Amino acid sequence: MFHILAADRVFILTGAGISAESGIPTFRGAGGLWRNYRSEEVASPHAWRRDPHLVWEFYSMRRRAAAEAKPNPGHLALAALEHTLHDRLFLCTQNVDNLHENAGSRRVVHMHGELFKSRCEDCDRPPFDDPNTYDPPAALPKCDCGGQIRPHVCWFGEVPYHVDEIFRALNECTIYIAIGTSGVVEPAASFVAHAHGPDRPGQGRAQTFYIGPEEPANSAAFTKCLLGKAGQLLPNLFLCD
Ligand code: OAD
Repeated sequence: MFHILAADRVFILTGAGISAESGIPTFRGAGGLWRNYRSEEVASPHAWRRDPHLVWEFYSMRRRAAAEAKPNPGHLALAALEHTLHDRLFLCTQNVDNLHENAGSRRVVHMHGELFKSRCEDCDRPPFDDPNTYDPPAALPKCDCGGQIRPHVCWFGEVPYHVDEIFRALNECTIYIAIGTSGVVEPAASFVAHAHGPDRPGQGRAQTFYIGPEEPANSAAFTKCLLGKAGQLLPNLFLCD
């Protein structure tokens, strides 16, 4: 059990593993979501330029899969933790699904974007809610400005969103917890080293924990790894002052 004291600030990073028990396949697990697609063919600026129909087919499939999924006890436990800690919890996810929000979390930072949002690739219209699917041979969605509408997700080679806000929170946290992420994709894989490292202005090192069924690639950087499924471990894990 984690005892969270009144002075603690908690940073939680979630990855695909938190949604695994909701039936959304992970990226690097066996089988699942990516099985018919090579990621560089569907999730990169190059792929978009070459075949936007294929990219929209892939994200339409993911929208359908995520729309059917329900939050699991892991998501619910993190929503309850936010209810207790308020702004002392910073919840950052690499996931583009909306299961944290559906569980009741209100302050979720989506560093890789949001599956149910789209944006224009040309004009500065802000990202907007878009639950639609655009499977071929349907026409590609267009903005009023004439530009193409693309998924509001971070592709390989693009810069993740909210990075300044994330590093501010990493500088301030006293407890860092990563859940269900394989620890290979940057910059998220280095967050633990930042939280635990000597570079933080005016702060000691945060305690760092990992939760998931197997050790992540960056396991050496964690104070402790708790091996198990998020939906089983999280509901009884937190004791807050
Ligand atoms: P991965 O698919 O790389 O890793 C998922 C992790 O979840 C693995 O380490 C599993 O052991 C773990 N896991 C599986 N079931 C679990 C469960 N029930 N509870 C807890 N953990 C479980 O996913 P990410 O690390 O999130 O980026 O992948 C990072 C990024 O790679 C994604 O956001 C995506 C992809 O490229 C973009 O799309 C930009």
